Amino acid sequence: MNTIIELITEEVKNAFQNAGYDSSYGRVTLSNRPDLCEYQCNGAMAAAKAYKKAPIMIAKDVVEQLLGSQALEQAEAVNPGFINLKVSGDFVAQYLTAMRLSDHLGVEKAKEPKKMVLDYGGPNVAKPLHVGHLRSAIIGESIKRMGRFLGHEIIGDVHLGDWGLQMGLIITELHKRQPDLVYFDENYQGEYPQEAPFTIGELEEIYPAANAKSKEDEAYKAEALEATHQLQMGNRGYRALWRHILKVSVTDLKRNYANLSVDFDLWNGESDVQDYIAPMVKDLKDRGLAYEDQGAVVVDVKEDTDTKEVPPCMILKSDGAALYTTTDLATIVERMEKYQPDEILYVVDKRQEMHFVQVFRCARKAGMVKDDTKLSFLGFGTMNGKDGKPFKTRDGGVMRLENLIREINEEMYKKIVDNRSIKEEDARATAKIVGLSAIKYGDLSNQASKDYIFDIERFTSFEGNTGPYILYTTVRIKSILNRYTEEGKNVGDTVVKAPVSDSQKTLMLETAKFNSVVVNAFEEKAPHKICSYIYELANAFNRFYHETKILSEEDQEQKQSFIALLVLVKDVLEACIDMLGFTAPERM
Ligand code: ARG
Repeated sequence: MNTIIELITEEVKNAFQNAGYDSSYGRVTLSNRPDLCEYQCNGAMAAAKAYKKAPIMIAKDVVEQLLGSQALEQAEAVNPGFINLKVSGDFVAQYLTAMRLSDHLGVEKAKEPKKMVLDYGGPNVAKPLHVGHLRSAIIGESIKRMGRFLGHEIIGDVHLGDWGLQMGLIITELHKRQPDLVYFDENYQGEYPQEAPFTIGELEEIYPAANAKSKEDEAYKAEALEATHQLQMGNRGYRALWRHILKVSVTDLKRNYANLSVDFDLWNGESDVQDYIAPMVKDLKDRGLAYEDQGAVVVDVKEDTDTKEVPPCMILKSDGAALYTTTDLATIVERMEKYQPDEILYVVDKRQEMHFVQVFRCARKAGMVKDDTKLSFLGFGTMNGKDGKPFKTRDGGVMRLENLIREINEEMYKKIVDNRSIKEEDARATAKIVGLSAIKYGDLSNQASKDYIFDIERFTSFEGNTGPYILYTTVRIKSILNRYTEEGKNVGDTVVKAPVSDSQKTLMLETAKFNSVVVNAFEEKAPHKICSYIYELANAFNRFYHETKILSEEDQEQKQSFIALLVLVKDVLEACIDMLGFTAPERM
């Protein structure tokens, strides 16, 4: 379906033409004076220069042509030359009825679907998932869902950090603690055990311990670097240990992401491109793009127009070990080979921006991607605590995701049982659903690139711009619809009639914005635009609800029209929250 603005623009363009002006001046936008009108056209101001005529004269000519319009209830020329518009109730009612009849709430699937690899999540194996990875998961999941809603092919890849120094650190620490493990016996030729020599709990304790030691002890650090290198070079025992670490860790990660309703198509990692690295480096060298610099292999990526220094992209360290850059480049080669995407989008902490500038430039310079393949970086800001510093536990440690979720659910649970009497079990289940909305909406309602303050108290509130408020509104609509069905009536009727009050018209106009909001939010990779939209929509609904007797309306046809509108508002809200990555409970 066309957007409602496109339809109104069509009318106004015709009016310009009929009044003897070029139709291109007829572009309509949302009003920036909602107290005066719903839509506006500023085209007469631009046309004034071309036609050497006062803008107000042109605006008046156009308005004259608009008088008979079915779509508009009011068209007014105001000084110095604006055209203020209000649509007719019948027009918006017809629009909403068409939305209800369409199978996708009036949103057309992309005519030329794009294939996108979405790189998000990015957890590091063997390190517990912490809040830093939360943002990538939440934002990436939402972008994936928006893209799919619009008919694009999105391939989500978790891109595990499973090939770096943390692996060498764990191996080194294990070696110290359990030197007799068969993995450390160089002469061992047999099969390695099936069972890992550690649990996830132990693994999560080993890494921070090893990391702390390496910061204090140079020799220890050197050992860990060497172990990393050995692992990458194919040391049999280390590879076997590494497979254990990966398996134990990934099982735990999958459980954590499932709790967040975050789901990846690919569970690939940095290690999966090992075989691409040597040929890639050789090719870069052969073509004279990569050269040796103090033993390391680098590619220059600076450009004349740079205002900030962009250091060369390091491909191999002097000991031959691969780096973060190397695996990211090799992953681009792999993704192009396997999927031929139109775009690869990375959702990563904005502090890694320079890394991606280097990687993207190197990939282009080396022709690893086609000229029209987009490489994009969506850098997100830091999640801070109330003190404005990166979010920590009460005692100053790194907050584990699981604990954070537990805290939110606990808070939600308290609020739910405070509100009304409800069975313990039901309250817990509801708290989990609503808690997820609190976390995700709290994050997504901010522009991704900005830092934000994670405020449990505010995020779990049922009032204000929060996930729970949106869910509360959705549940309120569901319950009205349920009562209507209990009267033995059918909510399937689709006809929405012209509004009978201002609050109803506002609600209808908000609802009609759905398709343009979704298209724009995906184009700009901006889930926060979906959030602002549903906040406005929920507010508009609640105003309407407080002013209107819906179920006690006596005129059955009128009541049916209210219900048709409610079904649509609910469907739009649910489609939006699904794109944000959460759902609404039946009751709360
Ligand atoms: N594992 C990385 C980190 O924790 C994030 C990975 C992001 N994705 C990528 N292709 N580099 O910082």
